[in-house]
Amino acid sequence: MKKILVWDWPVRLGHWLMVGGFIVAWLTSDSETWRLVHVLSGALVVAVAAFRLLWGFIGSRYARFVDFVRGPRAVAGYLGSLLALQPAHHTGHNPAGGWAIVALLGLAILCGLSGWAIYNEVGGHLLEELHEGLAATMLTVVIVHVAGVVSGSLLHDENLVRAMFSGQKSGVPDDAIPSARPLAAVVLLAWVGAAGWWLAS
Ligand code: HEM
Repeated sequence: MKKILVWDWPVRLGHWLMVGGFIVAWLTSDSETWRLVHVLSGALVVAVAAFRLLWGFIGSRYARFVDFVRGPRAVAGYLGSLLALQPAHHTGHNPAGGWAIVALLGLAILCGLSGWAIYNEVGGHLLEELHEGLAATMLTVVIVHVAGVVSGSLLHDENLVRAMFSGQKSGVPDDAIPSARPLAAVVLLAWVGAAGWWLAS
């Protein structure tokens, strides 16, 4: 096993943009003064999630949904190995983490769409309740996600958070992705910038 490139630039940049956007949106959710910041940070999360959905089909090997969205048997097998404190090593996302990722992306889009409707004064109190419920569910999944990352890091003796920055994980050299796809990350930034500019103007 060597350190090999697993996460391309769009995956890494998108992840940390989503983390930042989620934290700011959460912290500003109750304030009238910070309303525009809340809307813009929420929009950032949605714009990245929408890009990530597309990247899940056209991105590099470990970014693709086919690589990490697995059936119930694979999930149960992984969770079993986790409970036995001998989790199976996956070069990309593990099967349980894969579903947390799908849930986070789905919730981000739904939460953003409901927020957008509220911002445009469509729907009433019920929609606000829905938006808050989706955000609370998202926070719960984020907590489970981070707990999974921490436990996975400890059990595999591999710092997964650092890997989300460096892009590198342990693996066989033949399994490395050939390119970090930096140009696609520039497209992601342009897309996020355009979405923010459109919303603020
Ligand atoms: C400080 C809090 C967080 C930390 C430390 C963290 C860490 C990580 C790590 C290490 C991975 C890679 C997991 C693996 O190796 O399989 C990951 C993946 C992911 N995380 Fe987080 N995460 C955090 C918060 C969030 C939040 C708030 C969101 C969504 C709003 C999120 C969404 C995702 C997604 C979508 C992926 C998949 C990455 C991809 O394939 O594009 N994370 N996270």
